[in-house]
Amino acid sequence: MWLNETLKIKYPLIQGGMANIATGAFAAAVSNAGGLGLIAGGGMSPEMLRENIREAKKLTDKPFGVNLMLLHPQAGEMADIVVEEKVPVVTTGAGNPGIYIKKWKEAGIIVMPVVPSVALARRMEKAGVDAVIAEGTESGGHVGELTTMALAPQVKAAVNIPVIVAGGIASGKQLLAAVALGADGVQVGTILLASTECPIHQNYKNAIIKAKDTDTTVTGRIAGTPVRILKNKMARTYIKKEKEGAEMMELEKYTLGSLKRAVFEGDVETGSLMSGQVAGMVHEERSLKDIIEGLFKEYEEEKKRVMEVHL
Ligand SMILES: Cc1cc2nc3c(=O)[nH]c(=O)nc-3n(C[C@H](O)[C@H](O)[C@H](O)COP(=O)(O)O)c2cc1C
Repeated sequence: MWLNETLKIKYPLIQGGMANIATGAFAAAVSNAGGLGLIAGGGMSPEMLRENIREAKKLTDKPFGVNLMLLHPQAGEMADIVVEEKVPVVTTGAGNPGIYIKKWKEAGIIVMPVVPSVALARRMEKAGVDAVIAEGTESGGHVGELTTMALAPQVKAAVNIPVIVAGGIASGKQLLAAVALGADGVQVGTILLASTECPIHQNYKNAIIKAKDTDTTVTGRIAGTPVRILKNKMARTYIKKEKEGAEMMELEKYTLGSLKRAVFEGDVETGSLMSGQVAGMVHEERSLKDIIEGLFKEYEEEKKRVMEVHL
């Protein structure tokens, strides 16, 4: 596939950026397991990002990337750091990275923005990116409206650059479906949360392992900042406040620090436990190698099974 052939990595799989979670050590561990690890710039200062990039370089000789959240107040500084540190891949979330693309392309960086719609995918293609990551609303974290099933083939038909498919991939069946939808690579997040190497609090891991299919919800739909998280006290209160017409500022104050509370303190009541709908498919803590290898092994089995299906 385009992704693994271009980057010369074993599997066409990106570990999606996960703010406050995807450190340099975690990204390096994913790259060592054969995927493409990403350091998440969200939740870091520019100095922390530089340190994490240097840490990843020490821990792996494989390629890794950086995910930049464009809403970050210091996104500009971080955009320069990835060039200075010669990071080979940059993905972006929450916005349009247009102003940085020329600089990144001149530095030889592979640029892949996350897109929730055909319109943004087309704009990104015109701006000169290498590929787009079409992310469905099944995903954990910030989400758009369209499902992976509806979004991915429409983006694929609309652009002439590779399309990475993200959202709702946790098994060989879903990986095969992504390939059928036109994927030139896939991106996953939720299935890696319960990995041994993932640096989240054990309570957060246990909540993911315990979750069933209907246990996620989306906060911020009314406020215009939709985020998929596990249902808990924080999610219920947020949605209630939203429905009552709470101001953006009040909601912001309420959520401030809630992801950090979940990740570092294991607060599963008032913390924000970002998770995709496939949490219901994660049943145990496993090593990254097991999870990633297992996914591709299952894919091969499913491919054989589907070849024998008669319609
Ligand atoms: C806990 C968590 C945090 C996330 N944070 C970010 C982020 O900082 N930047 C980003 O672009 N995407 C973020 N995402 C989305 C992932 O990068 C990825 O696209 C998504 O998880 C794929 O869908 P899946 O969860 O169904 O595998 C996050 C996802 C999760 C589960």
